[in-house]
Formats: sequence, C-alpha cells, structure tokens
Amino acid sequence: MDNYDNNSGGNYQRPRKKVSRDTLRKRQIGGLCVIAFIVLMIVIVTAKACSKDSVKKGGDKNPTGTTTATSTTTPDASNSTITTTTTSATIPEPTNSPDSGFKLSRTTAYYTVGQSDYAAIISEYPSGSSEADEVWTSSDTKIATVNNLGMVTAIAPGECYITVSTSKDPTKEAMIKVVVSGSGGITQTSTTGTAGNPNGLVNTTTAEPQPMAEAPAPPKINMNGVHYEGNTLIVNKSYSLPDSYDPGGLEATTQTWFNKLVQGAAKDGINIYNSSGYRSYGYQRQIYDNYVSIYGTDTADTFSARPGHSEHQTGMAIDCNIISDEFAGTPEAKWLAEHCHEYGFIIRYPQGKQNITGYKYEPWHIRYVGTEISYRIHELGETATLEELFNIDSKYK
Ligand code: DAL
Ligand code: ZN
Repeated sequence: MDNYDNNSGGNYQRPRKKVSRDTLRKRQIGGLCVIAFIVLMIVIVTAKACSKDSVKKGGDKNPTGTTTATSTTTPDASNSTITTTTTSATIPEPTNSPDSGFKLSRTTAYYTVGQSDYAAIISEYPSGSSEADEVWTSSDTKIATVNNLGMVTAIAPGECYITVSTSKDPTKEAMIKVVVSGSGGITQTSTTGTAGNPNGLVNTTTAEPQPMAEAPAPPKINMNGVHYEGNTLIVNKSYSLPDSYDPGGLEATTQTWFNKLVQGAAKDGINIYNSSGYRSYGYQRQIYDNYVSIYGTDTADTFSARPGHSEHQTGMAIDCNIISDEFAGTPEAKWLAEHCHEYGFIIRYPQGKQNITGYKYEPWHIRYVGTEISYRIHELGETATLEELFNIDSKYK
C-alpha cells in the first residue's frame, strides 16, 4: 500500500519510496559525474572564448593583432619547398598621449622592403630623460626591426608599431605605425644590434630575390634661388645660395642628429665635437678672402668655398674635430667614415674625388642629408658623392 503523509496542511505530497543504501550511493556517484561533466564543459567553453578574445585584442607577443599566415608551395621542377610568409591586417594610427612627454615628428612611417630610415625625430622627451635614454622596440620584427638609435629596417610587407620609451621611466612611451610595402622579404638571421651592425641583420637574402626598383631621378627644383635635387638641398661650385639665405645657426634636425652621432661615437669611446658648423654668407666671405690673400685664388678654391657656395651657410654642414689634414686616419676620422651615414650624414668631400666635388679630401666635413640619401651614398661606396648620386657637376661658371 502507498504511504501518504498528511502533515502538510492538506497539500498533496508525492509519497516517498524507501530506497536501499546501495541505490543511494549509486545515485550520489551519478550526480557527482554529471556535475564534473558540467564543470568540464564550462572550463572548455571559457578557455575557447578567452583565446578568441586574445587574438582580437593582440597578446603580449603580438600586441598589434597582426595575423600571420604561412603557406608552403612545392614547385614542380625542383621538387624543393619554398616557404613564404605573408602578413596581413591593418592597424590603427597610434594616439600618443601628450602625457607621454614625447613629441614625435610623425606617427606613421612608410617603407619599402629593405629600406632603412629613422622611425621619427623626437623633439621633446619626458622630463628627466634625453635621447641617451631612448629604448626602441618593434611589435613585430618579422615586419620591421628597430635598433637602439630608432633606425627602422623594413623586413616584409605589413604593418606594425615601433615604440619608443625611456629607460628612466618605461611607463612613458610613444608609438609610430610602420607600413611596409613591396614584395618578398629579408631573411633575418640575427636580432642583436652591435656597434658595427646596429640593425642586427646578418644577411639580407630573400627566398626570391626582390631587386630594389631603380630610383627614378628626383625632380630638379629651384626654390627662391636654392637648388634641390628632390628633397636634397645642393650647394657646390655649380649651385650657390643667395646671400640672404640665413638659417641663423645649425638647422634643428642637423643638430638633433649630430647630438645622436656624438653620443653614438662616445659609446664606442670616440670623441666627436663640432669645430665649425653654421657660417653666414658674410663670415664665409671673410674666410675665403683671407685664404685668397695668403694662397691665391686657384689654391684657395681647392679647399675653401666662395661666399654663397659653402655648405656651412645651409646650417647642415659641420667640421668635426681637427680641421686639418692631420685628422685623416685618426680613430675619429675612421669612425666618422664608417658610421656617420647611420645618423643621416655623409663625408661630403671624400678622398680622390676632387675632380667631382671640386674640393680636396676633407675627412672632417660632414653634411646632413637624412638617412635615405646617406644610406644610398653609403651603398654606392666609401667615396661616393652627392654629385655622382644626382649626376650633377660642381664647377664655377
Ligand atoms: N671647406 C669647404 C669646401 C667650405 O669652405 O665650405
Ligand atoms: Zn666644412
């Protein structure tokens, strides 16, 4: 007979069945299994959701959210395997907080594969920091590397961020978006920069060689009586400056990069200093006339520029250390010859090029031209000149 419990205020209650201990234990074990299964499912679903989220936001190793796809193809003829890596996804323009303390010349920089140039010029630093404290990092070294001077080398097409912070306060940082175009890519075999190889790139072979396109000749521009080859201001025996051209001192970018050069040299134990920078038209006249009075015009013209024809009037030329033939062959002269291009400078009057530049060898005279041109000159050879790069002459009319 069924057992009815009538102590519930008249409400009907389902009669309880009597169950054995064995049955109870089995039910408890079954219940625990169900709970364990549910917990396991929750853990799996949560883990999947988190991993999707971290791809969207970009993890520590890939803060840009840039996605990289690797495809492998097997060419029929050779039966060998070529692996190509392509990187896609565009990233937003960085919004650097003014609180960072950094003021950058640009927040987006465009490169082609193989090109090297500074990420940006920094005109202001967080308080208490200076250019000596700069710390540079790349969010994706497969796209672009950066050395400790802020020199970026474009490795493969894609986009990434270059970040500058300061060793004095790593919480202060600013970013530059780097956009690399072109095809192929540089195979990077080392990421550790050294003094002699600040980009830390040991070889620059590509899976399929990607020759840099022959740069078209830049336009020749005459602006207010000043001659430019593309963006490069030219002053030599053929091209002069008006006497009114007066930056009033070293041009700001030239000064900035000279300071960096001095610090870079100091790290290598080399002392570089400015012995003669900006010279006005009038001051150059005094210098030149003095030499003419001592040596005569023909000799003076081999080492001193006529007024209006001196690069010193541009504020972009600096005579370093000893302005004399004794400087040649010194560790300082060697360091300048080897490294000045890393800072956007060139040795303007190299050895053996008097018939091209119009002047004797001046190992102390460096000219700021920016890294795009300084690297191109460097690649042309140790004694390459602006005249050769732009196919122009240097002769008084
Ligand atoms: N010594 C260089 C040529 C100048 O006078 O500008
Ligand atoms: Zn000089």
